[in-house]
Amino acid sequence: MFRLRVNSALFLAPLLFLLSPGNDAQECRSGMYPPAGPTFGGDVPWFTVSLDEPPAGRWSAVVAARKAELLTMIQAIKELANSLVPSGELVKLVDRVFPLIVDTLPYPFNEEIKGIADVSSVPLGEIVLFNIFYEIFTVCTSVVAEDLKGNLYHSRNLDFGFLMGWDRQNKSWTITEKLKPLVVNVDFQRNNQTVFKSTSFAGYVGMLTGIRPNIFTLTINERFNFDGGYVGILEWILGNRDAMWVSFLARSVLENSTSYEEAKKQLTVTEVLAPAYFILGGNQSGQGCVITRTRTLALDVWEIELKLGRWYVLETNYDHWDEPFFLDDRRTPAMTCMNRTTQANISFKTLYDVLSTKPILNKLTTYTTLMDVSTGRLESYLRDCPSPCSPCRWR
Ligand SMILES: *[C@@H]1O[C@H](CO)[C@@H](O)[C@H](O)[C@H]1NC(C)=O
Ligand SMILES: *[C@@H]1O[C@H](CO)[C@@H](O)[C@H](O)[C@H]1NC(C)=O
Ligand SMILES: *[C@@H]1O[C@H](CO)[C@@H](O)[C@H](O)[C@H]1NC(C)=O
Ligand SMILES: *[C@@H]1O[C@H](CO)[C@@H](O)[C@H](O)[C@H]1NC(C)=O
Ligand SMILES: *[C@@H]1O[C@H](CO)[C@@H](O)[C@H](O)[C@H]1NC(C)=O
Ligand SMILES: *[C@@H]1O[C@H](CO)[C@@H](O)[C@H](O)[C@H]1NC(C)=O
Repeated sequence: MFRLRVNSALFLAPLLFLLSPGNDAQECRSGMYPPAGPTFGGDVPWFTVSLDEPPAGRWSAVVAARKAELLTMIQAIKELANSLVPSGELVKLVDRVFPLIVDTLPYPFNEEIKGIADVSSVPLGEIVLFNIFYEIFTVCTSVVAEDLKGNLYHSRNLDFGFLMGWDRQNKSWTITEKLKPLVVNVDFQRNNQTVFKSTSFAGYVGMLTGIRPNIFTLTINERFNFDGGYVGILEWILGNRDAMWVSFLARSVLENSTSYEEAKKQLTVTEVLAPAYFILGGNQSGQGCVITRTRTLALDVWEIELKLGRWYVLETNYDHWDEPFFLDDRRTPAMTCMNRTTQANISFKTLYDVLSTKPILNKLTTYTTLMDVSTGRLESYLRDCPSPCSPCRWR
């Protein structure tokens, strides 16, 4: 445990220099839902993807609708890469090496990614890079809560883009902003019937947030560790391909697992490329858990336990049995607000309020998603966090 704490602290050392002094924390918010006003970035559009179509063609409509936004985002990533390596060699490397990865990816992801590159006319290597983005740096908050009737609610903030370009004029993180127009809700169907629904990014084929209506809900949060995604990706490139990409595993589970127990088993035992937290909710009382994963095994499965007064499980980016990193404690404020809400009052409205409280809402928050397994409802909202709001550059 000591080792883990030291690891996260070292890993996040750059935060020391980049976080604002941090007095943007707020009292628990109320009355934020349904969203309107300055912290409401906008509604997220819906698309249907048919799993009956061949993988290469199934994303055509989504990508065609967001082609310009995808090009803008990829361009921003390239500019960022070129600012690190002015010769342009980094981008050239991506264009040369990453297309070779695509054929090593499992079906249907390989075919889908090629199809997306075709429709968008973005070089294949750059679409591959976008699809392994998750392994780079995501900070998030996810919570599964049970109400007094035994209904399970699952909600999350997805925070992305830390250290990825600071826009001084707008006081925002460049990639975070460029990702927002790519956020889409997708209804995945077979035989014209919904199999699962997800909040995702146009051009991205893995899943970070999803619901299988009436059965389970699933989100992924990143877990920082030195034995992390970089090592996994390197091993993959070098030919050790036993492990599963984290967001691909989540997609497979949403698409093909037909019960909470089966999903839990898959997420617990499948070897993965990067450490992660899987946050899973089921359709019955007591079915909610946080699975803490190393690349090879589950260190812990932490479940809702009403008898112990644990009517929700909440995960940010630190092992629940350890203290969060002191400069990035989103857990304590989130739990304070959950505790104040009480089990009797849990709903989309109150969960949205919790996720709208700084620093749970922050400059990296791209979207908030709310899911109710019993009705199959998934709602998502783009977010904006007006200054003062961390994490933020001094200047
Ligand atoms: C700042 O935001 C405005 C409005 O959203 C946008 O037009 C402008 O390009 C942004 N500035 C930079 C430097 O990206
Ligand atoms: C789905 O619905 C469309 C029209 O609504 C129909 O043309 C198509 O055959 C249906 N597909 C399946 C697999 O049932
Ligand atoms: C789900 O299972 C079907 C049938 O076995 C398979 O064709 C499909 O590729 C699987 N989906 C994913 C995402 O693994
Ligand atoms: C809950 O999920 C199980 C599968 O694990 C399913 O058999 C059952 O019908 C679901 N219950 C409801 C109320 O949808
Ligand atoms: C919230 O309530 C739980 C259960 O009673 C308790 O263990 C936890 O310490 C509380 N957390 C905060 C931040 O209030
Ligand atoms: C919970 O809801 C009840 C009824 O809607 C309301 O009277 C009460 O103030 C709420 N409690 C909290 C802590 O928000």
